Amino acid sequence: MADFQTDRRHALAQVAAFFDTLLQLPDGPESRLIEAMRYTMLSDGKAFRPYLSYAAAQLFNVDEVSAIRVAAAVEAVHCYSLIHDDLPAMDDDDMRRGKASLHVAFDEATAILAGDALLTLAFEILADEATHQEMSKRLELVTALARAAGMQGMVGGQMIDLQSPQLDLDAGGLTRLQKMKTGALIGFALEAGAILGGADEAQRHALTGYAHDVGLAFQIADDVLDVDAKSVNLGKTAGKDAADGKVTFASLLGTERARDQAGLLVEQAINHLALFGDDANGLRQAAEFVIKRHS
Ligand code: IPE
Ligand code: IPE
Ligand code: MG
Ligand code: MG
Ligand code: MG
Repeated sequence: MADFQTDRRHALAQVAAFFDTLLQLPDGPESRLIEAMRYTMLSDGKAFRPYLSYAAAQLFNVDEVSAIRVAAAVEAVHCYSLIHDDLPAMDDDDMRRGKASLHVAFDEATAILAGDALLTLAFEILADEATHQEMSKRLELVTALARAAGMQGMVGGQMIDLQSPQLDLDAGGLTRLQKMKTGALIGFALEAGAILGGADEAQRHALTGYAHDVGLAFQIADDVLDVDAKSVNLGKTAGKDAADGKVTFASLLGTERARDQAGLLVEQAINHLALFGDDANGLRQAAEFVIKRHS
């Protein structure tokens, strides 16, 4: 039976093992780059996105190698986004996953390059024959990740986020920001499972609806934790959004209403999964985890 925490730990360990093998230190001076990539890829994240793609793939009995490679590609893009998000030119955050941010532990140029290399590595992983024997499925994965990560997705959302102190965003504008910045990559994680598994239209629609609501709830919870939690528990600097004048659901609605909103989204997310029956129990637990988590 699918269980969120068991599968999350499994996806986390398998993705870490995958990068441990893939990111071997070369002899030349470029080894500093690979050291920096290892610093982040083998650090203590929640593996929420790898879990989602793994669990979605499991709904369709996709083989383990394909599922883990796709989970690894999602995590590589996520980690690149965190490395760049922490740079002085962006959120200027010196703590991530309970340790020094990459640009603090190494230097800014290395952090930029490690992010670049992780982004391109994700596409190399997806495009490799080992990910799926059918070229059309590999192309579909590559296209979907490019859309999710790029100007209409995560990077576009980061652009709006950085301007948010100067923008007079209302709830609609902020929802759009969050959907792009965080929702798009979470959407890809679930879509990837559907692509690998050859999901039919109704199944894809259900996973898209679930991803939309979970993605939004995830960023709302992140915004609330930024206000409510302590840095030592978060593993990153608390209170950063307010200090930077960022517009978030916490700043717009207050933490209580933001928490209620996230709770409603989680209920809605779970409602999308009915057609999968008990096979989607892990994904149901994952939706609940989004608002129960402390980091
Ligand atoms: C943090 O993501 C960035 C957001 C999009 C909110 P996570 O909370 O998943 O970070 P890790 O991977 O566990 O460090
Ligand atoms: C970052 O959002 C989202 C991405 C990295 C795409 P935040 O700036 O809120 O993430 P944290 O709080 O630093 O993890
Ligand atoms: Mg940010
Ligand atoms: Mg940040
Ligand atoms: Mg945040």
